[in-house]
Parts: sequence; structure tokens; C-alpha cells
Amino acid sequence: MCAEPGKSPDFNHHKLCMFLMKLCSAQLLFILFLLPLACADLDSDKQALLAFAADVPHGPKLDWSNATFICTSWRGITCSSDGTHVLIVRLPAVGLTGPIPSNTLGELDALRVLSLRLNRLNGTLPSDLLSLPSLRSLFLQHNNFSGNIPAFFPRRLHILDLSFNSFTGNIPATIQYLTRLTGLYLQNNSLSGPIPNVTFLKLKHLDMSYNNLNGSIPSSLEVFAYSSFTGNPFLCGLPEKSCSLHSSPPPSSKRKFPLWAIIDIAVAGGVVVLVLVLVGLLVFCCYVKKKSSDGSRLRSGESFTGGRFGIRPYQPC
Ligand SMILES: *[C@@H]1O[C@H](CO)[C@@H](O)[C@H](O)[C@H]1NC(C)=O
Ligand SMILES: *[C@@H]1O[C@H](CO)[C@@H](O)[C@H](O)[C@H]1NC(C)=O
Ligand SMILES: *[C@@H]1O[C@H](CO)[C@@H](O)[C@H](O)[C@H]1NC(C)=O
Ligand SMILES: *[C@@H]1O[C@H](CO)[C@@H](O)[C@H](O)[C@H]1NC(C)=O
Ligand SMILES: *[C@@H]1O[C@H](CO)[C@@H](O)[C@H](O)[C@H]1NC(C)=O
Ligand SMILES: *[C@@H]1O[C@H](CO)[C@@H](O)[C@H](O)[C@H]1NC(C)=O
Repeated sequence: MCAEPGKSPDFNHHKLCMFLMKLCSAQLLFILFLLPLACADLDSDKQALLAFAADVPHGPKLDWSNATFICTSWRGITCSSDGTHVLIVRLPAVGLTGPIPSNTLGELDALRVLSLRLNRLNGTLPSDLLSLPSLRSLFLQHNNFSGNIPAFFPRRLHILDLSFNSFTGNIPATIQYLTRLTGLYLQNNSLSGPIPNVTFLKLKHLDMSYNNLNGSIPSSLEVFAYSSFTGNPFLCGLPEKSCSLHSSPPPSSKRKFPLWAIIDIAVAGGVVVLVLVLVGLLVFCCYVKKKSSDGSRLRSGESFTGGRFGIRPYQPC
């Protein structure tokens, strides 16, 4: 179809031929170069998942095999629509036990959703998993992961669920870099220390209940319901424990008033009684004095202290 460009008398025809030739070579480039690359991606995802299944003890539900097609036959695996990458790994309650090894799930570089909830995974999270660039949702609840909450997670996370594990230490303030979070679940761990005063613009669901957090609920998170924070015995700002300057009673107390209010009332009452006793003594003394100095009169210069009202100036008894 394409005539030899040099011999064509028609300039426009020549340009069209050049364009068609470019188009042909681009397709050739794709078939020869890009297609094998895409297949190589899927193969490396497959090898990473096979390594995970080989390293992590699990129950019979995990049926991954080198002989079947990963995108259609493997439990819990969803591929991209063009079949070149693994996008989703969902393995709830398949009896996974022990730590997540490096160079396994952390190699799935197009992964968007990882759910490993309801297993017996433990130890700490491998750093390659924590730097997967496209990860959006990480569900690790109901395992027994331990150690500190990592300082850095994939930046684009929308949902982070670490609840019902054995995480300890503080909630890192670096969590504020996860600006796209819509759900953050940290309940039922052993987290301690203060809650960082961080602002999440998109956060809809927050749960930090049942930990050992202390200090006060930061102003940036006051929009969330008390149920997000309950079960932290040393955290103030909850209905059962207000952030008073005075010391508060323990949450189990049945008192209607806090201790400081009772002390204040007692001290005020004592002062009133004391004043009444003093006034009474004074009146009594003056009465006795008046009787003993019967008939004596005031000198004119001393009458300014209310003599008109029948009150005598103070004289020691
Ligand atoms: C999977 O099968 C391929 C050949 O189809 C082979 O090259 C590869 O080593 C196998 N991998 C494992 C983990 O068995
Ligand atoms: C993880 O659990 C296994 C038993 O399932 C135990 O032997 C191992 O010590 C645990 N590791 C950690 C870090 O808790
Ligand atoms: C979970 O891990 C913690 C700390 O590593 C350990 O004390 C506890 O026994 C573990 N729980 C279970 C159910 O394995
Ligand atoms: C969460 O933790 C609280 C306090 O330790 C406990 O009462 C509650 O049962 C836990 N929830 C679950 C589902 O384990
Ligand atoms: C918490 O952050 C908010 C806004 O981000 C700020 O107005 C407030 O002063 C901060 N509170 C504390 C105790 O730092
Ligand atoms: C919170 O608990 C830590 C120990 O976990 C302690 O050092 C700190 O003083 C406590 N802070 C407050 C405000 O109670």
C-alpha cells in the first residue's frame, strides 16, 4: 500500500505514508516489547504470592497453584481488567499464621486492597508492604500483630484497620500525612500515651476505643462521638471523665459531684460556721461588758462607730 516515498509525485500522499509507517512500528514496538513486560509483571506478582503461601502456614482454603491461572482460579485474587497486575488480595479467615515475610506481598507493586483480617498473623509489618505506592485499603484487624504502629504507611491510604491486635506504644503524629484517610480503626490494641492533635480533612470513621491512651481528646478530633474514645481509663474529655484542673474521681465512682466540688463545699461551710461562732462570741462578750460597766457613757469622740444604732465600738473582753 505504501508507495516508495521518494518516488511519489504527491507530497500529501508521502506524508500519509510516513504516518502509517510510524503507526505500524508503534504497534510492532508494543507487540515485541511492552506486551512481554506486562506479562512479566503478572508473573512477578504470581511468584511473590507463591512465596507468601510457601512461607506462611495456612489452612486448606488457600488453593493457589503454579499450574492454574492466577487471575481466574486463585482464591482471593483480583487482577486489573487487562490482566497484567494483581489489584486486590482478600484472604479473610484462611488460617494464616506467623509473620508476613518481606519480598512477598510487598512485591505486588500495583496492589490497591489488602485484606488479611481474622487470621493469626503476628510480629511486625515488613517495610516493603508499608511502601506499596498504590495501596488504598489495608485491613489487618483480628490478628496478633505487635510492636509500635509504623511511622509511615503508603501515602494514598483511604482505609487503615489495625484493630483487635496487640500494637503497643504511642499513636505516631506522622499519621497526619495520610491526608486521604476516610477510616482509621485502632480499637482494642494496647496503645498508650496521648492522642496526637492531628486534623484529617476526609476522615468519616474513627475508632481508638479500648486502649490505654491518656491525656485529653485533642480539639481536632472532638467532632467524633465519645464511642470513638471510650474504654481508655486514663483519657479525659469523655462524659465519665472530664478534663478538670482539679483531680477527678475514677470512672467507677458513683458520686454525683466530683471530689473537688465536695471539698470546696465542705471548706465553704466550715468558714461560715467559724464566722457565725466568732460573731456569737463577740455579741456575748459585749453583752457581758455592757452589764459589768452599767451606767457608764461614751465620750463624745467615740460615738462615730454607729452609736446611733446602739452598737458599741469594739473593746477587747
Ligand atoms: C512455575 O511454573 C513455571 C513453568 O510454568 C516454572 O518455571 C516455575 O519455576 C514454577 N514456579 C514454582 C514456584 O514452582
Ligand atoms: C507468632 O506466633 C507464633 C506461634 O503461632 C509464636 O511462636 C511466635 O513467637 C509469635 N511471634 C511473635 C513476634 O509474637
Ligand atoms: C499476641 O501477642 C502478644 C504479644 O506478642 C502475646 O502476649 C499474646 O499471648 C498473643 N496472643 C495470642 C492469642 O496469641
Ligand atoms: C475490646 O476490648 C475490651 C476491653 O479490653 C473488651 O471488653 C472487649 O470484649 C474487646 N472486644 C472484643 C470483641 O474482643
Ligand atoms: C489542635 O489543632 C487545632 C487545629 O489544627 C488547633 O486549633 C488547636 O489549638 C490545637 N490544640 C492543641 C492543644 O494543640
Ligand atoms: C500518660 O502515660 C504515660 C505513660 O504511659 C506517662 O508518662 C504520662 O505522664 C501520662 N500523661 C498524662 C497526661 O497522664
